[in-house]
Amino acid sequence: MTERTERTERTVQAERKPQVQSTEAIAAFETAGPSAVSDCKGFEVKHLVKRYANADKPVLNDISFKVEHGTVLVVLGPSGSGKSTLLRTIAGLEPIQGGTISINEKVIDEGRPGTEKAGRSNRSSELRTRIGMVFQSYDLFPNKTVLGNITMAPLLVQKRGKAEVEAEALKLLERVGLADRKDAWPHELSGGQRQRVAICRALILHPEVLLLDEITAALDPEMVREVLDVVLELAKAGQTMLIVTHEMQFARAIADHVILLDGGHIVEESHDAHAFFAHPETERARQFLRTFEFE
Ligand SMILES: Nc1ncnc2c1ncn2[C@@H]1O[C@H](COP(=O)(O)OP(=O)(O)OP(=O)(O)O)[C@@H](O)[C@H]1O
Ligand SMILES: [Mg+2]
Repeated sequence: MTERTERTERTVQAERKPQVQSTEAIAAFETAGPSAVSDCKGFEVKHLVKRYANADKPVLNDISFKVEHGTVLVVLGPSGSGKSTLLRTIAGLEPIQGGTISINEKVIDEGRPGTEKAGRSNRSSELRTRIGMVFQSYDLFPNKTVLGNITMAPLLVQKRGKAEVEAEALKLLERVGLADRKDAWPHELSGGQRQRVAICRALILHPEVLLLDEITAALDPEMVREVLDVVLELAKAGQTMLIVTHEMQFARAIADHVILLDGGHIVEESHDAHAFFAHPETERARQFLRTFEFE
């Protein structure tokens, strides 16, 4: 089976995958936020502008792309090109100053000039749970066990029942090979194990989109594989994802769609990831990919 056929099969599986969603989150989603409409089943960013206070130019300037439901977008770009900022704005951790962010044809965030100094977007906590994010640094709560880390948000934010949430947490831990570590404390885990717990913590909220920002960058090489295998499994199961990674072989294997950011702009976009890695169209992309060639 070719890489491309595998991806197509994955997309088909994704279309068949039932969406498990929290009723409360859906209700909040239906009633909250701006009412403008996009035309994407999945996730869409239109003309996004992100500007920090006191900066002479925006970090992200007029960024637009769509990620169809059940597919994977890999975001590439040199250091400082705005990849983390893009993911943080999508997660609602930073306000945007222009453009829109939508999920399933509904706008969840609209740019508001003058919000450069604001801490977060004004999204409701329910809307926030529609998008999950895992960072490079293992940001587990040190004073909670593995199970406590995973169950905290569904219990407190989504107000779901304890028995149901714990049962789901155990299933997720099984899926990432950590069922026997449910009572461990974060400091007792390896980096790879912590990242797998962080993935479970994001997944238990049933995010429409999962954002992964260089989640293996701080890991020893032997632990990279165990985390990337979990992410590949998620892609096969139809989880919509935006992934920032410097692991080019992994990017090649998992991407349906690629964007290359540079200087706050998308300098190349491809819906044929295989072609992008084999024959990038722009000189900038060729130059970027060449920097990984010694690997
Ligand atoms: N809170 C902030 N205030 C001001 N400028 C910021 C802030 N966060 C990031 N920046 C600037 O925004 C630009 C993009 O940063 P960002 O962290 O998004 O880059 P990146 O592509 O993720 O880089 P890397 O590959 O090194 O992680 C950089 O020039 C950075 O200095
Ligand atoms: Mg970054």
